[in-house]
Amino acid sequence: MSTIVGEESRPQSDIDLGRYDTNPPGCGLLELIREDLATHEGDWLSEGFLALAVHRFGNWRMSIRTKLLRAPLTVLYCVLEKMIQSLCGIDLPYTVRVGRRVRIWHRGGITISAMRIGDDTHLRQNITMGVRRRGDHRWLKPTIGNRCDIGAGAVIVGGITVGDDSVIGANVVVAEDVPPGSIVTVPKPVIRPRQQDAR
Ligand SMILES: CC(C)(COP(=O)(O)OP(=O)(O)OC[C@H]1O[C@@H](n2cnc3c(N)ncnc32)[C@H](O)[C@@H]1OP(=O)(O)O)[C@@H](O)C(=O)NCCC(=O)NCCS
Repeated sequence: MSTIVGEESRPQSDIDLGRYDTNPPGCGLLELIREDLATHEGDWLSEGFLALAVHRFGNWRMSIRTKLLRAPLTVLYCVLEKMIQSLCGIDLPYTVRVGRRVRIWHRGGITISAMRIGDDTHLRQNITMGVRRRGDHRWLKPTIGNRCDIGAGAVIVGGITVGDDSVIGANVVVAEDVPPGSIVTVPKPVIRPRQQDAR
């Protein structure tokens, strides 16, 4: 069943963005982190797991509604987020709604400025998600469905939806909706013998 719909994942207003704990419901912080660790094959030093753990913590702290009590956790979150960005090369703001069992493979050049990442989706190195043009409204960011596989170097921009069970090939630029169950690739490279005089 498809559960990812762009509109549904949007906050009600600009003010709502980042104001609430948007970790997947029905799962406590420790349970979520344990599940993320299992998704990353128990490798607690893997950059993807660390980025997700900080992301989960960043959301969880928003469940503490008293600003004064939350303040020290917010300071800690900001420091950890910067460390993840600098040391792991992964930019994953807590405002992105990340589903369960999401895996981030490898490290570096990863900017996940999306509205939502669905359950069981895999993301790889050097992917970029965000707005399509400078000055676009910050809601105009992609929604990625469940069980998607995003190849290395993919760029996904705009307020689009990548449907469930889709594969985005390496180095593809996606700027329009992708129907569920699609595979998106760039034109195949041409492989031919070198000319004799070029050797
Ligand atoms: C594009 C990709 C998804 C194809 O996967 P696949 O399982 O080999 O799929 P298929 O062999 O069924 O090919 C599907 C289509 O993609 C095309 N395709 C395959 N390799 C391609 C390539 N390198 N460039 C462009 N198109 C390619 C095929 O021609 C086919 O198109 P067609 O249906 O029109 O014939 C895969 O090559 C890819 O980019 N994966 C990213 C994985 C990644 O980032 N790994 C990094 C690990 S560190």
